[in-house]
Amino acid sequence: MLDKAILEVDGKKYEFPVLIGTENEVAIDISKLRGVTNGVITIDTGFKNTGSCSSKITFLDGEKGILRHRGYAIEDLTKKANFLEVAFLVIFGELPTKFELKKFEDDIKSYSLVNEEMKGIVEGFPKSAHPMGMLSSLTSALTAFNPRRVDVNCKDDMYNAVVKILGKFPVLATWAHRRNNGLPLNYSDNSLGYIENIMQLMFKIPTEDYKMNPIAVKALDELLILHEDHEQNCSTSTVRIVGSSGAGLFASISAGVSALWGPLHGGANQAVLEMLEKIQNDGGDVDKFIAKAKDKNDPFRLMGFGHRVYKNFDPRARIIKKAADELFADLNLNDPVLSIAKHLEEVALKDEYFAERKLYPNVDFYSGIIYRALGIPVEMFTVMFAIGRLPGWIAQWKEMRKNGEPIGRPRQLYTGEALRPFKSFEER
Ligand code: CMC
Repeated sequence: MLDKAILEVDGKKYEFPVLIGTENEVAIDISKLRGVTNGVITIDTGFKNTGSCSSKITFLDGEKGILRHRGYAIEDLTKKANFLEVAFLVIFGELPTKFELKKFEDDIKSYSLVNEEMKGIVEGFPKSAHPMGMLSSLTSALTAFNPRRVDVNCKDDMYNAVVKILGKFPVLATWAHRRNNGLPLNYSDNSLGYIENIMQLMFKIPTEDYKMNPIAVKALDELLILHEDHEQNCSTSTVRIVGSSGAGLFASISAGVSALWGPLHGGANQAVLEMLEKIQNDGGDVDKFIAKAKDKNDPFRLMGFGHRVYKNFDPRARIIKKAADELFADLNLNDPVLSIAKHLEEVALKDEYFAERKLYPNVDFYSGIIYRALGIPVEMFTVMFAIGRLPGWIAQWKEMRKNGEPIGRPRQLYTGEALRPFKSFEER
């Protein structure tokens, strides 16, 4: 059995324990490396080979295209459970009983009113503000209204913090959109389910009845389930590392929102749609853009393609692609952008460049098309991702704190100037 690894440094051999995960993943525990070798460290920029923690939340096998939360397959969760049911599972470890789920939903509703003073903060943003920047700031501002520290070891304290943030986050997220579009800031409607409430928060206007399309609600529910957790991705690692300093849950999640915003992470869903529209406006020449993506002198990348861990296919993209097809058929939509997306996917998958590098469509390739079909504006796409990812951030923050993990503080290899004498102004 593989139980140790030997590293030779300058002729001396050091033994390190090997840890084995539930699915036989192998990790060399080098936590004592620096101490025993007198200062030697490892370098792994971008953490391509580095595990930052052990976790019981999500299992992902990038080669086989497997994604499971707490042991349950993502394919089952999207079809057989709803968003809050999966959120409960991800955060607390087990699927809720009917009673637990009802209580969870009711408790979240009881916190769905946001302090009126928050509206003043919303009004302070210029209308040009991106909703992700606003959401990050507003989530951080929640700490001002909830200054008490969450005690992760107190069950009630943690539970209350969970239902509070789940109740308020969609309100803040949709306020960003409403403010920028000159719409009155909406209140939650506690007679509705979580997903229906998000829809009415976004779209309902005071002068008219808002008719919800159950097909759209189902599609959004499925899409948000797919985003709930994805182990140690950029924003989740950010949440864990910010929380490891002792920062609170809301402040850590605010940092996660900022990390998600980037186009290489959650911001890719917005970038995908902008790219598809660009291709459409340019005359629809897919081959031209494939060539640009392959050209190493051109910074253009095919957005929605490639993934740090999925090197075969992204199981979420498979589910989403099917959901997009169903939604378009159900709503009888015929979006030219969807045709471009399909053509692009077809051409890229046959292309040697993409095959060699194992670049497949990821979750963001199709999610934007669904959001567009649901009438969600492009600048809100990443915000929807954030609403979906919230349970994962909470679960990972909670696990990190419960494990008592030390503050995240990587080392570095200094490659700057060696000590040199200070230069006076005359010498510079
Ligand atoms: N288009 C063209 N070439 C690409 C792409 C792409 N989308 N992605 C990777 N490559 C090439 C890259 O140039 C490199 O080529 P070479 O070996 O010749 O230098 C090779 O593939 C490996 O790429 P990498 O950047 O080293 O891979 P990574 O694991 O560091 O990056 C990624 C993963 C997702 C950041 C990257 O594939 C990418 O930028 N994709 C487009 C943005 C995107 O869709 N992001 C969403 C990710 S999924 C949802 C989420 O995480 O939020």
